[in-house]
Amino acid sequence: TLKIVTLGGGSGYTPELIDGFIRRYDELPVSQFWLVDIAAGEEKLKIVGALAQRMVKKAGIPMTVHLTTDREAALRNADFVTTQLRVGQQEARIHDEAIPLKYGVLGQETTGAGGFMKAQRTIPVLLDLCRDMERLCPDAWLINFTNPAGIVTEAIEKYSRIKTLGICSGANSMMMDIAKVYDVRREDVYARVMGLNHLIFADQIAVKGHDVTAEFIEKLAQGNGQNQLKNIPDSGLPPAFIRALGLYPLSYLKYFYLRREMVAHSVKDSQTYGTRGEQTREIERQLFELYKNPQLESKPKELESRGGAYYSDTACSIISAIYNNRQEIHVVNTLNRGATPDLDENSVVETNAVIDRRGAHPLAYGRLPVKIRGLIQSVKAFEELTIEAAVTGDYSTALMALSVHPLMPSVDIAEKILNEYLVVNRPFLPQY
Ligand code: G6P
Ligand code: MN
Repeated sequence: TLKIVTLGGGSGYTPELIDGFIRRYDELPVSQFWLVDIAAGEEKLKIVGALAQRMVKKAGIPMTVHLTTDREAALRNADFVTTQLRVGQQEARIHDEAIPLKYGVLGQETTGAGGFMKAQRTIPVLLDLCRDMERLCPDAWLINFTNPAGIVTEAIEKYSRIKTLGICSGANSMMMDIAKVYDVRREDVYARVMGLNHLIFADQIAVKGHDVTAEFIEKLAQGNGQNQLKNIPDSGLPPAFIRALGLYPLSYLKYFYLRREMVAHSVKDSQTYGTRGEQTREIERQLFELYKNPQLESKPKELESRGGAYYSDTACSIISAIYNNRQEIHVVNTLNRGATPDLDENSVVETNAVIDRRGAHPLAYGRLPVKIRGLIQSVKAFEELTIEAAVTGDYSTALMALSVHPLMPSVDIAEKILNEYLVVNRPFLPQY
C-alpha cells in the first residue's frame, strides 16, 4: 500500500496533482489518496474532492480518494505528505501584494516583502504539521509546494526531523520553454540550474545530449524562449544584458534586473485588473464553477492559466524517484551540503540533485559566478532572517529581514510595510 496525504486538499490545484498520480499509476501505485483541509476550506474540499473521485473512477484504477478535515487520521501511516496550502487564502495574498505596491515596492507573493509575509504565516503552520508527522508518520517524506517553498523547506530542515524536499514548477517550465524552442520533448532537455527558489539560473543546457548553452543564450537575446510563467508580467530582458549574463535566468529574475519597470508594470496592472491575487481569486472562482459540474472527469484546460500549471509533473516524478529508488536527476530545494562553497552547508538551495530512496543528493556545482553571487547571497541573508523572525516572532529580526532585501529601497519603507503587514495579518501570527 502507498498512502499519500495532501494538505490544502481543497486547493484549485488538486486536479493537477491527482492527474499526475493517475498518469503515473503504473510506476507509483497510490492506493490511498487523502485530501485534507481545515474546516474553513471544507466546502471547496468537497467540490474538488468529488472531481478527484470522478477522475480516479474514470481512470479505472484501484485508488481510494478520502476527503477529511481530520488531519491526524489522515497522517497516520502516511508514506508521502504533500502540501499546497495557503494560510489566509487569497485574501492574505492580496494584502501581501497591495501593501508594498502602495510604497512603490514590489508586491509579489514570493519575491521580496510578499515572500517575507507569506513565510511568517506559513512557517508556524508547517512546523506544526511536522510535529504531527513526527508522532504519526515519522518516516514519511514531506514534499512541500507551499510558498515561499525554499524558505519553508529551510525552516523545516532547521526545526524538525522530518525528511523534506521543496518543489517548484519553475525549473520544469524553463525546460519546457527550451523544448519548445528546439521543437523537442521536455524529456530531451537537460538544464543545470543553481540558486534559490524563484532565483535560479541555468548555466548548462543540453538538447538530446548536445550542449546548446551558447546557442540558446543567443536565441534568448534575440527574443526566443524567454521563460514566461503565467503569473509574471511579460517584458523581456535587454539583449545586451542577456549576452553579458550568459546564463538563462528564471523569469522571476526580472523582478531584480528590471525592478523599476516591473514595479511600474505591477502598479498599472493592479489598477487595471487587480493584483495577481485578485486575479487568481477570480480564476479560482471560475475553476470551482467548472469543478462543480458532475460531467467533468478530467483536469480542465483552464488550470493552465495558473502559474503552477504542470506542477504535478515535478511533484509526482520526484515522489516516484524516491519510491522506486530511481537515482534520477531532478531540480529540488534541498540542503546545499557543499554543492557550492558560496553558501552555507545548511542553506537550502534549488539545484539539480540525484533523487533516490534516501532523498536528494545535490550535484557538485562549485563557485557561483561572481555576476550572480552577490544577489544570491543577499537574498539568502533575507531568507535566514525571515525564518528566524517567523519562528521567534521578534520584531527587530523581522525588520532586518525586510531591510536587507535587495529590492527594499529604504529602511523607512521597510518599517512602514512591516507595521501595516502586522496589523492585517494579526489572526495568522500567533508567534508575534
Ligand atoms: C509559479 C511558481 C509557483 C507559484 C505560481 C503562482 O508557477 O513556481 O511557486 O505558486 O507561479 O501562480 P499564480 O497563478 O498563483 O499567480
Ligand atoms: Mn514556485
